Amino acid sequence: MSSKRESVHGMWSSRAVFIMATVGSAVGLGNIWKFPYITGEYGGGAFVLVYLLCVALIGVPIMMAELLLGRRGRSSPISTMTRLAREEGSSPAWSLVGYSGVVAGFLILSFYSVIAGWALAYVFQAASGGLNGVSAEGSAKLFADLVGSPPRLLVWHTVFIVMTVAVVARGVRDGLERAVTILMPALFVMLLIMVGYAYLEGDFVRALDFLFDVNFAKVFEICTGSAEQLQCQFSGEPVLVAMGHAFFTLSLGMGAIMAYGAYVPDRASITGATITIAVADTVVALLAGMAIFPIVFASGLEPSAGPGLIFQTLPIAFGNMPGGQWFGTIFFILLVFAAWSSSISLVEPAVAWLVDSRGWRRGTAAAVVGMLAWTLGIGSVLSFNVWSGEDYQLFGRTIFDLKDFLASNVMLPLGGLMIALFVGYGAGRHMALDELAIRRQQLFDAWWLVIRFVSPVGIGIVFLNSIGVF
Ligand code: PHE
Repeated sequence: MSSKRESVHGMWSSRAVFIMATVGSAVGLGNIWKFPYITGEYGGGAFVLVYLLCVALIGVPIMMAELLLGRRGRSSPISTMTRLAREEGSSPAWSLVGYSGVVAGFLILSFYSVIAGWALAYVFQAASGGLNGVSAEGSAKLFADLVGSPPRLLVWHTVFIVMTVAVVARGVRDGLERAVTILMPALFVMLLIMVGYAYLEGDFVRALDFLFDVNFAKVFEICTGSAEQLQCQFSGEPVLVAMGHAFFTLSLGMGAIMAYGAYVPDRASITGATITIAVADTVVALLAGMAIFPIVFASGLEPSAGPGLIFQTLPIAFGNMPGGQWFGTIFFILLVFAAWSSSISLVEPAVAWLVDSRGWRRGTAAAVVGMLAWTLGIGSVLSFNVWSGEDYQLFGRTIFDLKDFLASNVMLPLGGLMIALFVGYGAGRHMALDELAIRRQQLFDAWWLVIRFVSPVGIGIVFLNSIGVF
C-alpha cells in the first residue's frame, strides 16, 4: 500500500494526465534541439547507442526511483527528502539532493529559456514569410543575425521566462493539464510529417547511416582540426555527455520528476508510466534526428555545427516545401510549447519548496524564481555574441556551455546517483516494494539489482573516467 499522504499542491486528475504532464516535462528542447546537435558533434551512431543504453540502464530505473520518492513524500523534493530520510532513520544530509536539484534547475532554466527564445523568434520569422525560399547560406545568416543581437535575444528570453512564471503561478494542474494533452500529440504528428519531408527531399540514407551505424572508435575519440588534418585523441567525454543527456532529456536528477511524482494518484503504476514516458521521449528524439540530418547532409551543412544546428537546417526545409510558411510557423509554435511544458517543471521543485516550507504564495515564489533565472540567463544571452570570444571563456567554454556542462553532465548524474543510493540503501527495500507494488517478484528483484548496483556503478565509472582517474 502507498502512504495516504495528501499533497498540498494538488494532484493530477488522472493517470493519463500525469503521464502527459511528465512526457511534457521530458520532451522539450532536449529532444529536438540538443539531441541532434550533440549527436552531430560527437559523431553519430556510437554516441546514439551509448545514449540509448544510458536511458535504459540508468534513466528508466532512476525515473522509477524519483517517482516513488515523490509519491511517498508528497511534497517538494527538498521536503520529501528531509521527511523520508527522517522516517527511514537515515541522515538528514540526504536533503542536499533536493537543494542541489533546485540549483541545477536554475542553471538549466537560465540557458533553456534563451534557446526557447530562439524558437519564439523563429515563430515570427516563419509567420512573416522570412524563411520563404531561403538557401543554406541565407538560413545561416538569419541565425547569425539573431544570436548576434543581444537586445533581440534578451527580449525573447524575457518573454519565455514570463510565460513560465505565469503557468507555475497558477499551479501545475490548472496551469498545465489542458495545454499538454493537446499539444504533445500535435508535436508528434508534426515531427512525423517532417521526417516524411526529409525522406523525400533529403539525404535520408546518409542520415540513417550517421545515426545508427555504430563505429566504436568514435565513442572514445575526440577529433579536432580540419578534415585533412584531423587529430584524434582518446577521451571518455562522449560517454559522459551521452549519460548527461540521458538525465537531461528525461528531466532526471534534479527533482522535477520527484515533484511531479508528488501529485500522482495512489493507484497509478509507476513502472508502466515510466516506460511510456521513456519510450515517448526517446522516439521523439530519434524522429527529430531523422528529420534534421537528411537536410543537413542534403544541404552540405556540417553535422557538428553546434547549438544552431536545427535553427540553420529546418528553415531550409520550411522555406522550400509547399505550404512551408504555415508549416514552419506551426512547428516553431509547437517547439515553444514543448519547451514551455519542460521549463515549468524546472522551476516546480523550487516553487513547491518555497510554498510548502517557507509559506510563500505560489505567485510570489514563481515570480522570484523567474527573476533569478532571468538574471542568470543574461550570461547565456551574451555567450553568443559579446562574450563569445576566448577572453571570456573558462576552460575553453562560454558561460552558456559551462552552465550546460555543469548542470547536465555533473549535477544531474550526481543527483541521480544520490537518488539511487537513497532508494537502494538509505531507505531500504520495504519502501520501494510498497510504492512500486510490482506483482512479478522477479521484475522487482531485477529493478532492485539495477538501482543498487548497475546504475550507481555505471554513473561512478563514467565520472571517475571523466575526472581522469583512469
Ligand atoms: N527534459 C527536458 C528536455 O529534454 C529538460 C529538463 C531537464 C526539464 C531537467 C526538467 C528537468 O527538454
